[in-house]
Amino acid sequence: MSPADQPAMRKKMLAVLEGKTFASPPMWLMRQAGRYLPEYREVRAKAGSFLDLCFNPKLAAEVSLQPIRRFGFDAAILFSDILVLPHALGQKVSFEEGHGPRLEPALSETSIGDYERFQFDRLSPVLEAVELIKTALPAETTFIGFCGSPWTVASYMIAGSGSKDLSAVRLFAFRHPVAFARLIDTLVSASIDYLAAQAEAGVEVVQIFDSWAGLLPPDQFEAWCIEPTVRLVEGLRARAPSLKIICFPREAGSKLKSFTQRVRADGLALGTAEDVGVVRSQLGSKAVLQGNLDPLSLVAGGRALEDGVRRVREAFGGAPHIFNLGHGILPETPISHVERLIQLVRAK
Ligand code: CP3
Repeated sequence: MSPADQPAMRKKMLAVLEGKTFASPPMWLMRQAGRYLPEYREVRAKAGSFLDLCFNPKLAAEVSLQPIRRFGFDAAILFSDILVLPHALGQKVSFEEGHGPRLEPALSETSIGDYERFQFDRLSPVLEAVELIKTALPAETTFIGFCGSPWTVASYMIAGSGSKDLSAVRLFAFRHPVAFARLIDTLVSASIDYLAAQAEAGVEVVQIFDSWAGLLPPDQFEAWCIEPTVRLVEGLRARAPSLKIICFPREAGSKLKSFTQRVRADGLALGTAEDVGVVRSQLGSKAVLQGNLDPLSLVAGGRALEDGVRRVREAFGGAPHIFNLGHGILPETPISHVERLIQLVRAK
């Protein structure tokens, strides 16, 4: 091993992404910077709006580092949101307490063309935050950046809000396939630029969050999830060859096999409902998997948590594994349960 490799090898999560296996897996939690932490709520209260927090480099860096200081997770994730990209494409993005995100105006067939210019400078505070976090992280902590997948981000841009069954965006794609494909193209290209810039500023891994991949029937999954993700990953690899890429096509189930055959990711994150045994038998023991404890078992604690962690460790054991939840940590999660989780995962 050359000396230049040594710092990287101290990072357990990077080693797993290169195929190494550990008796106790490296761990981080999706949404680990967030409302379950009192120190986050304190910063959030003085930041103004949620987007003000995302675009304040010092405060965004501070909340990214909070879970590392408190829990010593193996990886820090940049504090931001997948919806900063629609903001940089010109949509007005806001978050209302109890309502989730709002994007205005919701895109129509005729207005899509007005949202194709990527105003990259609108994201420069995020890249400043990346630089601040990078210099403050412990040597053993891996640094993760992220974006949303084109499909998931498009679903918010078309609906103008979150939606349960994605009927607005799926209907739009049926009615206006050409306009929708243009929006997806815009998002692929902006996401490549954005993630390449995050890599240049200091992230070592990126995760592509496709929260709504699982709701697509197979032919639409191929057109709107796999195909754009292939282009995103290939484009990004050409720009940032040493960057590690994790994909999270949430709850893709039986479609995971075709996803991994086409998308050259370094790791695959599994949602809560995935059957890890089935995924392993389809993908083999070399696939690097991340996941997938039920976030509700972490809220419940006690027996539910202990059984859940044991099941996850057994199911993923003996192959490269990054311990995580199957979706984001919930705001009502008690901190003592997170502490217990860490003890259970780190026990040999
Ligand atoms: O993981 C982390 O700690 C990094 C930060 C992060 C946030 N959002 C912060 C956030 C990440 C990685 C995301 C990703 C994200 N954002 C996804 C993909 C993952 C998933 O959960 O499926 C999606 C779909 C979004 C869009 C989004 N942002 C929604 C639907 C909401 C509202 C729901 C909610 O939890 O309030 C947000 C707001 C948001 N993003 C919050 C945080 C901490 C809460 C807002 C607040 O603190 O006021």
